[in-house]
Amino acid sequence: MTQPIHTFSASETRAMDTALEAALQGPRGANPLVGAVVVGPDGSHLATGYHRGAGTAHAEADAIAAAAAAGIDLRGATMVVTLEPCNHVGRTGPCAQAIIDAGLAHVVYAVDDPHDPAAGGAATLRAAGVSVRSGLAAGRALELNRRWFEAVEDKRPFVTLHIAQTLDSRIAAEDGTSQWISCPESLADNHAIRRRIDAILVGTQTVLVDNPRLTARDANGDAFGEQPLRAVMGRRGIPEDAAVRGDDGRVLHLPTRDPREALSLLFSAGARHVMVEGGSRILSAFLSEGLVDELVMYLAPTLLGSGTPALNGLGIATLADAQRWEWDAASGGAVQTLGRDLRLHLLPERPSGPPGNEDPVPTAAHSTSTDSLPARAAAGEATGGY
Ligand SMILES: NC(=O)c1ccc[n+]([C@@H]2O[C@H](COP(=O)([O-])OP(=O)(O)OC[C@H]3O[C@@H](n4cnc5c(N)ncnc54)[C@H](OP(=O)(O)O)[C@@H]3O)[C@@H](O)[C@H]2O)c1
Repeated sequence: MTQPIHTFSASETRAMDTALEAALQGPRGANPLVGAVVVGPDGSHLATGYHRGAGTAHAEADAIAAAAAAGIDLRGATMVVTLEPCNHVGRTGPCAQAIIDAGLAHVVYAVDDPHDPAAGGAATLRAAGVSVRSGLAAGRALELNRRWFEAVEDKRPFVTLHIAQTLDSRIAAEDGTSQWISCPESLADNHAIRRRIDAILVGTQTVLVDNPRLTARDANGDAFGEQPLRAVMGRRGIPEDAAVRGDDGRVLHLPTRDPREALSLLFSAGARHVMVEGGSRILSAFLSEGLVDELVMYLAPTLLGSGTPALNGLGIATLADAQRWEWDAASGGAVQTLGRDLRLHLLPERPSGPPGNEDPVPTAAHSTSTDSLPARAAAGEATGGY
C-alpha cells in the first residue's frame, strides 16, 4: 500500500525538535520516552510536555495541562508529539480523547505506537475531525526509544541493569561483605528506581549470601507504598527464612538459568520493567544475551584489589568483539555525581552508524515524510540489608 506523503511546516519541525528534547527528561522503563509541544495556528509555541514514567500523565496530557495552567486556549492548535497519541484507558486516560476535548485541530506525530491496546489513536482523532499527519523525525523518534521498541516487539520487559561497584569493578570484598559499596545518595537513587519498576531480579547465590529484602525504601529504611515484585533466578529454591520472602506474597522464584525464560516468566506475571541487580553471574548472563536495555552503574571511589568482580565473563576473547555502550543523555544524563559516587547511565550501542542521522535538521521551510513508518518498530541491618 502506498503511504501518503505528508508535509510539515517549519514551526512543526522546530516543535518536534523541542518535543524530542523534552522527552529526554523522562525515565526509561515500562513506557517510552515521549515529548509533546503545542503550536498555535500562527506557528507560535504554546506549551511543552513530557512523560514522567508509568502511571503519570502522558506527554500530550502534560502539555495540555501546562497550557491550561497558563490560561491558553488550545482550540485550533496543533499537537506535535514524538509518538502516536494513545487510545486506551490505562492508569491514565486516552490522549486521543484529551486532544479532542481540548479542541486541537491538528496532530503531527513521529512514529506509530506499537502497543496493540494503545494503538489506534490516529484513527480516533481522524474520526473526530482532527487532521493527523505522521512520520516527522521518525528516525530520531525510533532511535530515542530504540531498545523500548525492541522489548515491545520481543514481548519481554524493558531491562535495567544495576551495578554498584568499586573503582576496580568489585561488587563484594573477599570475605563476601558488600554492604555498602555505594554512598547513601546512590542507595537512595537505587531505591527511587526500585519504586517505579515492576520487578527486581537477583540470583539465588545473592539471596543465600546477602539475604537481601529487595524492597524499595526511603532514607529511614521504611518501605514505600508501591513495591516491585521480588524475583530470584536459579535452580536452587529460596530458603524458607529468606528476607526476600517478605510477608506480602510478592516474591517469585524463577527456576531457570536462561535469562530469556526468566524475562518471559516475568512478562507473564505482568512485569514490563525489570531491574536486574546481581550478582555477577546474573549480570553477566543478561549482558551476554544482549538483554540489557539500560545500564545504571554506581561507581564508588574505593579500591578492593580482590573480591567478587562485577562480571565473570561475557564470552569475549578479542577486543573486536567487545560490547560497546553509548552514554545515555536521558533520565538525568549520562554522568551524575551522587554524594561521593559517580552514577553512569548507558545504553547498548546500536548495531551501526551514528545515532539519529536519518532526519537531518531541515533547512527548508517544509519537510516531508511518508506516513506511519512502521514502528517495529539507607541503612539496613546486617542480614536482610538491601
Ligand atoms: N554490589 C552490588 O550491588 C551487588 C548486588 C548483588 C549481589 N552482589 C554480590 O554478588 C555476589 C554474588 O554473585 P554470584 O555471581 O556469586 O551469584 P548470583 O549471580 O547472585 O547467583 C548465581 C547463581 O544464580 C543461578 N543462576 C541463574 N542463572 C544463571 C546463569 N545464567 N548463570 C549462572 N548462574 C545462574 C545459579 O544458581 P542455581 O544453582 O540456583 O541455578 C548461580 O549459582 C555476592 O557476593 C553479593 O554480595 C553485589
